[in-house]
Amino acid sequence: MLPWFILFLLGLSKATTHTYDFNVTWVTANPDGLYERPVIGINGQWPIPIINTTVGDRVIIHLHNQLGNESTSLHFHGFFQNGTTEMDGPTGVTQCPVPPGSSITYNFTTDQPGTYWYHSHDQGQYPDGLRGPFIVQDPDSPHKGKYTGEFILSVSEWYHKQIPTLLTSFMSYTNPTGVEPEPQAALMNDGPNATFPVQPGQTYFFHIVNMGAFVGQYVWFEGHHMRVIEVDGVWTEEAEADLLYVTAAQRYGVLVTMKNDTSANFPIVSSIDEDMLDKVPPGLNPNVTGYLIYDSTQTLPQAQWLDDFNPFDDFTLVPSDGLGIFDNVDHSMTLDVVMDNLGDGQNYAFLNDTTYLPQKVPTLYTLLSAPEDLVTNTAIYGENTNSLIVEHGEVVEIILNNHDIGKHPFHLHAHNFQVVVRSDAEAGDFDPTNTTALTTAAPAPAFPAVPMRRDTIQVPPHGNVVLRFRADNPGVWLFHCHIQWHMQTGLMATIIEAPLALRAQKGSQGVQALPADHLAACQAGGTLYEGNAGGSTSDWLDLSNANYPPDPLPAGFTARGIVALVFSVVAAFLGMAAISWYGAAEFKTMKVGN
Ligand code: C2O
Repeated sequence: MLPWFILFLLGLSKATTHTYDFNVTWVTANPDGLYERPVIGINGQWPIPIINTTVGDRVIIHLHNQLGNESTSLHFHGFFQNGTTEMDGPTGVTQCPVPPGSSITYNFTTDQPGTYWYHSHDQGQYPDGLRGPFIVQDPDSPHKGKYTGEFILSVSEWYHKQIPTLLTSFMSYTNPTGVEPEPQAALMNDGPNATFPVQPGQTYFFHIVNMGAFVGQYVWFEGHHMRVIEVDGVWTEEAEADLLYVTAAQRYGVLVTMKNDTSANFPIVSSIDEDMLDKVPPGLNPNVTGYLIYDSTQTLPQAQWLDDFNPFDDFTLVPSDGLGIFDNVDHSMTLDVVMDNLGDGQNYAFLNDTTYLPQKVPTLYTLLSAPEDLVTNTAIYGENTNSLIVEHGEVVEIILNNHDIGKHPFHLHAHNFQVVVRSDAEAGDFDPTNTTALTTAAPAPAFPAVPMRRDTIQVPPHGNVVLRFRADNPGVWLFHCHIQWHMQTGLMATIIEAPLALRAQKGSQGVQALPADHLAACQAGGTLYEGNAGGSTSDWLDLSNANYPPDPLPAGFTARGIVALVFSVVAAFLGMAAISWYGAAEFKTMKVGN
């Protein structure tokens, strides 16, 4: 047995730095085999690289935006970025959009094991292809030795049109009920017919990640059981599962043991949750099939269709570390999800009656450039950042009530939260008209002693969840629905975590303490990097230049049903001129931010 400090030194000496140059460009691809289109690739390739590190390793990515026509950024989904909030990636929050021709470097350590992914966090852009898996190996995994090989199994939905085109028609008075764009296909490992060569009797670790932008997917292995061992980077006790439901941005690590004979190959199926589509497009194949290949000389069998989806309940998972429930809540906040129209006729998403809008200055930069005594005043960040301040070290609880008929996969940056309550999917145990009754005490569920922790959770239609985390990570962190369509229409809040500790961490130089290339990207793109949400550095409480949404609909047009009727009739039969009778002077697609 070596003394502890030798082990410590050996441990340190193994940490590796992984350095990448990522030239982000348009390339041509035909992922579903149905349609060739421009996609966003890296170094001339699509799919983009898989990043694979070991706990403790450093990653340095030099991102060069060579798209020519769009800004970009990278976010490393699920990473805590403790001490490096400026490397988190969402534009308007912790950095400026990186304009075409500019480069910035991301530099952070991967201190946590498991299955992650990385994606653009700018303008809803990643479904155009800028998203890929990111795996962190754990030499100390509690499941070490249980498997002989590993596979990545990514799923996503795919669109034939490019995101800016889809967003233009989605975010419009012609779509007053907010019908989301329909995907054209499901992909597994970025195509149809993914193959996984296996040996009989062996056990494999599959890293399952939904890199999609909208729909959840059901995933199953025909003729084989899964044993869940990881959820969003948290090791769990083994749990048997035959069917997983994976929302956009969620991950599962599962063990699958192969059969002992080699006579046939077996389908792995991923199937789009069609309940999330307002209408199922004609010709959509909701399934994508991959194969466990026992014998490459044998045929690829047809997948069996499932009539009934009864997925594994992630709420029952138990983290391997046994971390008990945070039962002394210091700070509880309630967020109500509502979709509604504003005066431009467009459908918006609201948390507590406020729709998120990016501001003139990224929120982190406001925090670092403001006078110290103002950083705990949410006004400076702009009303429409939905900023919520939490204190260093406190246990924070979020009660998230979904008043909408849709499913919403909510993600918190930089933390795993405990899920202490989740109402049954569509069981009607949450009355959306009665929010006052909805607290953690009523309907008085028995809280799990060791709750499941993850970073992305499905909130059921007209349902709710109660999440808890410890504010041990000073930074500016988003909390949002991961459906890109809903992010773009405002289903986001900003957690300003331990702002004074963050100021102390970055030192007296304030925003100038940030890497020069991050600030240079702001300058190159004409984005302000000092000042309040409106860019004011003289009067920090003057928010008149902040970004605000359109006014509410005029009286009499507030009900979604009326809006839907009026707007669809107007749009379909009367044309733009006829709508002037209700005085919509700014009745056009609103553009915000950059
Ligand atoms: Cu996958 Cu805000 O992120």
